[in-house]
Amino acid sequence: MKASLKACDVVIFGGGGDLAMRKLLPALYHLDQDGLLAKNTRIIGASRRDMSAQDYQDKVREALNEFVPTSVGDKNTWPRFKERLSYVSVDAQEESDFARFNEHNVGDDEKDVVFYLATSPDLFGSICSSLANHGLNQERMRVVLEKPLGRDLISSRAINDEVTQNFGEKQIFRIDHYLGKETVQNLLAIRFGNTLFEPLWDSAHIDNVQITVSETVGVEGRWGYYDKAGALRDMVQNHLVQLLCLVAMEPPGRNDADSVRDEKIKVLKALRPIEGANAYTKTVRGQYAKGMINGKDVKGYFDEEGSNLESRTETFVALRADIDNWRWAGVPFYLRTGKRLGQRYSEIVIQYKSVPHSIFNDESNRQLQRNQLIIRLQPEEKISLTVMNKVPGAGEGMNLQPVDLNLSLSEAFNNKRSPEAYERLLLDVMRDDATLFMRYDEVEAAWKWVDGIMAAWSQTSERPKEYASGSWGPAASMALPIKDGRNWHDY
Ligand code: BG6
Repeated sequence: MKASLKACDVVIFGGGGDLAMRKLLPALYHLDQDGLLAKNTRIIGASRRDMSAQDYQDKVREALNEFVPTSVGDKNTWPRFKERLSYVSVDAQEESDFARFNEHNVGDDEKDVVFYLATSPDLFGSICSSLANHGLNQERMRVVLEKPLGRDLISSRAINDEVTQNFGEKQIFRIDHYLGKETVQNLLAIRFGNTLFEPLWDSAHIDNVQITVSETVGVEGRWGYYDKAGALRDMVQNHLVQLLCLVAMEPPGRNDADSVRDEKIKVLKALRPIEGANAYTKTVRGQYAKGMINGKDVKGYFDEEGSNLESRTETFVALRADIDNWRWAGVPFYLRTGKRLGQRYSEIVIQYKSVPHSIFNDESNRQLQRNQLIIRLQPEEKISLTVMNKVPGAGEGMNLQPVDLNLSLSEAFNNKRSPEAYERLLLDVMRDDATLFMRYDEVEAAWKWVDGIMAAWSQTSERPKEYASGSWGPAASMALPIKDGRNWHDY
């Protein structure tokens, strides 16, 4: 990582909340540990609660003990990090409270300021207008917007309209933490840093692409939010669609924000709508029932705290996306994600076509002759390329078997700690690099596509299909690629 050693004030709205404690402050701590925060960089928690700076520092210390175990007893970073932390009590809906930022000299000495809005999106508009009314929207000041950026195109436009009344597009950083994951960035390195893959990256050579984000967790006390969202809005509209864009986009002219985003938007615009009756053949929705994960009994969706038996919210979705352009004509992109599945992993599989003419003629060999490039995002970060090999042995004849060429990133880089997504993204905001953030037209195009699916689903009385926790989702999701004569690669 290149250093961001320009001093900055980082103000976190929702500074005492779950996201701040679990992700943002641990990420900032790691940046400090790695020497990537300038001496005068300050971190200011902001929320409605009355708290002294000391109380806030204690709360952050507790969170670090839990979420960054290596920080316990770290005598080098903590004293420095603690000095950076302060707290301002601000009711986001009370404009006069924002004067307190001026009292705390936020943005003084021509410092850059990052306002991280880890709050409900309903507050984005009023926070931005109060900041502007207190002179806190100058060019060197930026806002970071956490998802969800609306629940459909209309609400997302409304949020955007409110925010853009006071901040320019260049000052707005819409975060999708998947773009900060190391292997996701590595996808760009693989595609555009090697001559090997790009000439084979098209419908002449690739049969299908599969993107899976499988989680073992359930809604984890977030029923209120999750039940209004569901897997399509919570995961597909942003994380999975962004991954699809990085796989499918044309090579950008440069690795800068607008060049990359200009290519992604073309993919989004080329996504074939899934509407009306198509939604039945191209999508599968599921909802988890009780079951067992890692040897433990777990609850079904309806047994979660706050649940409502009428809910039709999907906790699983699988779908076939098609991209209507020359490069991807006829190549399905299968996407699937779900909660309470059998295993936690995220990966992208590029399934190549069979060889055009096989000289290894027996039937079993012919089936096998397909290369796969697998990019695993988590839990471990690795890339593997499946190639066909002859099984050793004189008596084996010409028996072929797939063998994986494995690149484990931790082994290749001597177990160098892989930064968490938020570390990279926070650093990028501080150094004003928006390449890994979403531009508004991308968000809008993704909502437009997802709205079509939601509208089709809302026209049916069918409930999402139940699946046992710990399984691979509803049986119908297995059948989705089978209808096209294909399989999920791990099935
Ligand atoms: C969030 C979703 O954006 O991503 C959560 O709101 C989900 O529901 C999480 O669990 C998954 O992120 P990760 O990085 O753990 O795969």
